[in-house]
Amino acid sequence: MISLVPLIGFTLLFIHGGSTLPPFSCDSSNPVTKNLPFCQTGLPITQRARDLVSRLTLDEKISQLVNSAPAIPRLGIPAYEWWSEALHGVANVGPGVKFDGTIKAATSFPQVILTAASFDPYQWYRIGLAIGREARAMYNAGEANGMTFWAPNINIFRDPRWGRGQETPGEDPLVVGKYAVSYVRGVQGDTFHGGKLHGHLQASACCKHFTAYDLDNWKGTNRFVFDARVSVQDLADTYQPPFESCVRDGRASGVMCAYNRVNGVPSCADSILLLKTVRGEWDFKGYITSDCDAVALIHDGQGYAKAPEDAVVDVLKAGMDVDCGSYLQNYTKSALLQKKLPESQIDRALHNLFAVRMRLGLFDGNPEQLPFSNIRTDQICSPEHQILALEAARNGIVLLKNDAKLLPLPKSTMSLAVIGPNADSPQTLIGNYAGPPCKSLATLQALKSYVKNTVYHPGCDMVSCSTAAIDKAVDIAKRADYVVLIMGLDQTQEREALDRIDLFLPGRQQELITSVAKSAKRPVVLVLLSGGPIDVSFAKDNPRIGGILWAGYPGEGGAIALAEIIFGDHNPGGRLPITWYPQDFTKVPMTDMRMRPEPLSDYPGRTYRFYKGDKVFEFGYGLSYSKYSYTFTRVSRNKLYLNHSSSLRARETSDSVGYKLVSELGAEVCGEGKLTVHVGVKNHGDLAGKHPVLLFVRHGNHGNGRPKKQLIGFQSVILNAGEVGEIQFEVKPCEHLGRANEYGLMVMEEGTQFLLVGDDKHPITIVI
Ligand SMILES: *[C@@H]1O[C@H](CO)[C@@H](O)[C@H](O)[C@H]1NC(C)=O
Ligand SMILES: *[C@@H]1O[C@H](CO)[C@@H](O)[C@H](O)[C@H]1NC(C)=O
Repeated sequence: MISLVPLIGFTLLFIHGGSTLPPFSCDSSNPVTKNLPFCQTGLPITQRARDLVSRLTLDEKISQLVNSAPAIPRLGIPAYEWWSEALHGVANVGPGVKFDGTIKAATSFPQVILTAASFDPYQWYRIGLAIGREARAMYNAGEANGMTFWAPNINIFRDPRWGRGQETPGEDPLVVGKYAVSYVRGVQGDTFHGGKLHGHLQASACCKHFTAYDLDNWKGTNRFVFDARVSVQDLADTYQPPFESCVRDGRASGVMCAYNRVNGVPSCADSILLLKTVRGEWDFKGYITSDCDAVALIHDGQGYAKAPEDAVVDVLKAGMDVDCGSYLQNYTKSALLQKKLPESQIDRALHNLFAVRMRLGLFDGNPEQLPFSNIRTDQICSPEHQILALEAARNGIVLLKNDAKLLPLPKSTMSLAVIGPNADSPQTLIGNYAGPPCKSLATLQALKSYVKNTVYHPGCDMVSCSTAAIDKAVDIAKRADYVVLIMGLDQTQEREALDRIDLFLPGRQQELITSVAKSAKRPVVLVLLSGGPIDVSFAKDNPRIGGILWAGYPGEGGAIALAEIIFGDHNPGGRLPITWYPQDFTKVPMTDMRMRPEPLSDYPGRTYRFYKGDKVFEFGYGLSYSKYSYTFTRVSRNKLYLNHSSSLRARETSDSVGYKLVSELGAEVCGEGKLTVHVGVKNHGDLAGKHPVLLFVRHGNHGNGRPKKQLIGFQSVILNAGEVGEIQFEVKPCEHLGRANEYGLMVMEEGTQFLLVGDDKHPITIVI
């Protein structure tokens, strides 16, 4: 081993046997550090982190409180960048990862909203695992300055206009929570069921943005100053559950507090949220970062803190550990000098930060001996990962309409017209928070591989479509056997810092589609790219539009997946992870955080769980080339006696239903009440297919803040043509059958609830 600079002190680059490695701490050849306790891998991490923090000067300590943490040469500690992104593949959005070295690309999985549409947690896990592998490979190759990735984005997709809804797994708390757990376990290198594959973190995932953050910039209200007024009831059963799953079950090593305030208090300054809930109740062991510049905003934007130093004190006392920005670098010392802040608060934060770096294996000496050192760059864009990206696109794409079995189109199609501003743009398929994909292919090219005689016209100047070439598009449509229109949105219409104002297709897109459909030889196929829902009632009702597919932003495999579905090489099975609202919904202010309807003021409520109005398409809607039917074949019991804990007396709620607090029922009663539900599924079609089955519950009593129905389980089944299968769900009453009351407490109510699968229902009576 040759080191380039003197042994004492920090070196930027080591060369080991000819290969370059990223700088590392606790080099065994460094006599200054090799015997220090923080380098002893045999000691508990808590003890090592405490030792390290105790050796730092005050200035060194302060320097480590921001995302770009500088090196501490006298202790052999290299610089570390906390901010990296990996929403649906290793990305170059944060400063921690660049693609300007020997590695030029990483696998780009579908944007999360489409991945969610597969309702397949094992697939989500495999995607997380692949991302974690690629991330570690980049680090091992010296092309990343950090291993802390700020994903997943698990805010509830509460409002269809949200520009970042595309980044999330949708509107249902159970789906979002399960996505979070699967993704986090994968990225961090745990097993699918949560066991540890290795003692260390493969890479670190981060549950964001905590909490009630789902508005970016809508009619002059922006996320930096927005005060989300949220009821404790909505917090308990909508906003918080995904974060609780992410932390408790996923064991995420990072949490990000959001820009916005929640009921007046900036998220990053809220000790009840961060210390009491996340670290206390959810037993979080990791670091908490601010969103970028969120600390500065507490004083500069929101005026919540009177002085910059007060913002520093507020966030550190609330339990935040690292500032994405420079505010803590600039104002922590003056906060100490003004005696507003005890140094112990800084030590507390640093302890969490160094503990995570240690769990990543960054203080264990020679990286070649670490558990993840064998992950090499051949993992990046590996054939397996690229096939997984294709599979995720196939399994996510949702068939919304298929009149008279227009789809799939015959492979013998002689001529095809492809029309639309989204047909020839591989970049649009990728979505935001991405890095360069391994492969880039436009949907137009993939369709051409099926039909040689394919004619293309964009139809619009851009996706915004203020100018449309309707005559030209009609002209090519008239002459083709079949027409595929590839329309929808892109990042100019919905993205970070840009929410939509309406739900219609942009500009003259609708007019173009209708004109083309009217003059084509046969009904046309409409493909929609978008993260958020679009009001396409016009297309749903128009018999000239025979098929509609929603493809989200399907990632680097998206073009092929779409072409395969259109020409019958794949049977679609995705289901919508969000309600598709009509344009009329936009009369609701986006700033209104209430989930539940309020009939007196005409407020319709939000998401399939509460929304009362008309829908363009339902949550969970999705067709296939096969038809599936379901029945409850066996339910282990129809009555649940949760009345053993005699010390509790049923209390009365306002609608006279007896209830008990779930927290007081006790693990034994909850466990005994478990029931097993068997569902038979039949594929009535001519094609094999993968089909997600959704199990809901509906309370016998409507109203009083109860959801109309609630998803309590989902599972995919693969069935050949004509095949019958059976799947099994475990229903845990305390987890699945309770509800949040108006005090934000989960309660179990007496009475009848109905399990629902498709059109079949099964009553369960609860005795408390
Ligand atoms: C911190 O100080 C630096 C250097 O004076 C300045 O460039 C930066 O804007 C400051 N950051 C904040 C958030 O005030
Ligand atoms: C629970 O309720 C059932 C039905 O009312 C009753 O038969 C049973 O004795 C109760 N059990 C307890 C422990 O109170």
